[in-house]
Amino acid sequence: MKIGVPRETWPGERRVALVPDSVKRLVSKGHQVMVEAGAGSEAFVADDAYRVAGATVVPNFATLVSEVAVLVKVRPPSAEELALLRPGQILVGLLQPLTNLECVIQLRDQGITSFSLDALPRITRAQSMDVLSSQATVSGYRAIILGAQYLPKLFPLLMTAAGTITPAKVLILGAGVAGLQAIATAKRLGAQIQAFDTRPAVKEQVESLGASFLTLPLEVTGAEAAGGYARKLEADVEEQERALLREPVAGADVVVSTAMVPGARAPQLISREMVLEMRPGSVILDLAAESGGNCALTEKGTQVVSSNGVLIDGSTDLPSQVPTHASQLYGHNMQEFVTLLAQAAMSENESGERLWTLDRDEIIQATCITHDYHVVHSATLKRITERGGDASAVEPSHS
Ligand code: NAI
Repeated sequence: MKIGVPRETWPGERRVALVPDSVKRLVSKGHQVMVEAGAGSEAFVADDAYRVAGATVVPNFATLVSEVAVLVKVRPPSAEELALLRPGQILVGLLQPLTNLECVIQLRDQGITSFSLDALPRITRAQSMDVLSSQATVSGYRAIILGAQYLPKLFPLLMTAAGTITPAKVLILGAGVAGLQAIATAKRLGAQIQAFDTRPAVKEQVESLGASFLTLPLEVTGAEAAGGYARKLEADVEEQERALLREPVAGADVVVSTAMVPGARAPQLISREMVLEMRPGSVILDLAAESGGNCALTEKGTQVVSSNGVLIDGSTDLPSQVPTHASQLYGHNMQEFVTLLAQAAMSENESGERLWTLDRDEIIQATCITHDYHVVHSATLKRITERGGDASAVEPSHS
C-alpha cells in the first residue's frame, strides 16, 4: 500500500502519525511511505530521518493525497484537507467520530473509507494498536510534571538543616491508564498519594504503585461495564461521591482527575464549593476537560484561577506537549493497525482493484466509521440520526 503521513494542522498539535522507526517497519513489509515535508518537525524528526527510513518526502499536502491510498493522521482532517481527499481513499486517525459528526458526514459524502483508532476494542490483540492507552500514559505523566511545576511547594519529604519539608499530597481521581501513570510519576517525585476509582478492581493496582486507595462508602452497583470501562453513575450516586470526596479534595495540594465514561459526559466530581475549600496555591489538572471536565470550574483547553487562588488546568493537548515520545508510541500503534488493515481487510483482484473485507476482523470492523458512502459505525450513525442528520446508510454491522 502507498501510505501518506501529512503534517498535522490542528492548532497546537505537535505529534506526527508515523516516526521513522515505524516507517522502516512498514517499508520492510513491502509498503511505500510518503511524508509531507516538515511533518515531523514539531516532534523533532527531520525529513532526512524519514528518507533514511525509506520514505519519500513530498513538498505539500496536495501532492501527498494525490499519490497515496492510505492517509495516516493524528487529528481529524480540516475541511480544506478533507476537500482534497478522493473517493475510495483510506483515512486512519483519532477522528473522535461521536463528537465530530460534521467531519464524519463529509467523509461519508466523499466516499472515504475512514477508521478511527479511538473506537478500538479494548481486547488483548488490540493492545499494540491502542492509542488511547499509549497517549493516556503520556498524559498521566505530563499532568504530574505540570502539577509539580505549578505547585508553590516541593513534592518530596526533605529533612534539611533548615527544617523539614513535608511531602505534597496528591489525589488521583480515576485510576485508569492515565491515573495509574500519574500515580507512578508522583511516587517517583516523592509525593504522598491517594487515589479513587468507582471500579474496585483497580484497588490492588493503585496500592502496588505505592498509593493508598480511598475506600468510600459509595453505593455503586455494577461499577464496571464491558471492556473494563466504568459505568455512568446515577445523578444521586454522583452527588454522593462528590460529598464523600469533599474532605480528600480539600486536603490535596494537587488533584489529577481522569474520571471518564466512554460516550458520556465526564462525571462532575469537584464542585465550585469544593474548590473554594482547597488551600490557595493548590492545583487541579482536569484530564477529563475534553469530555466536560471533572471539576465545575474547568475551562476546556485553558487555565483558570479560582477566587481563592486554586489553579485549574483544562489542557486537552497533554500528549502533544511531549511530542517526541507521544509520536513514537502513536506511530507504533499506527504501524500495527495499518499492518493489520493490509492483511485482514484488503486484497487485490487480478486487475489490481482493491477489494474490502471489513467484517473478517473484529478490530477492523469496530474501527471503521465510513465506507462506500455510508456511515457504518452504529454508535456514530445513531448520534447522527438523533441530531436529525441524514443517516442514509446501510445497516450498521457493529457498534
Ligand atoms: P477512561 O479514560 O474511560 O476512564 C478513566 C478512569 O476513570 C477509569 O478507571 C474509570 O473507572 C474511572 N471513572 C469513571 N467514572 C468515575 C467516577 N465517577 N469516579 C471515579 N472514577 C471514575 O478509562 P481508561 O483509562 O481508558 O481505561 C479503563 C480501563 O479499561 C483500564 O483500567 C482497563 O481495565 C481497561 N483497558 C483494557 C485494555 C485491554 O486491552 N484489555 C487496554 C486499556 C484499558
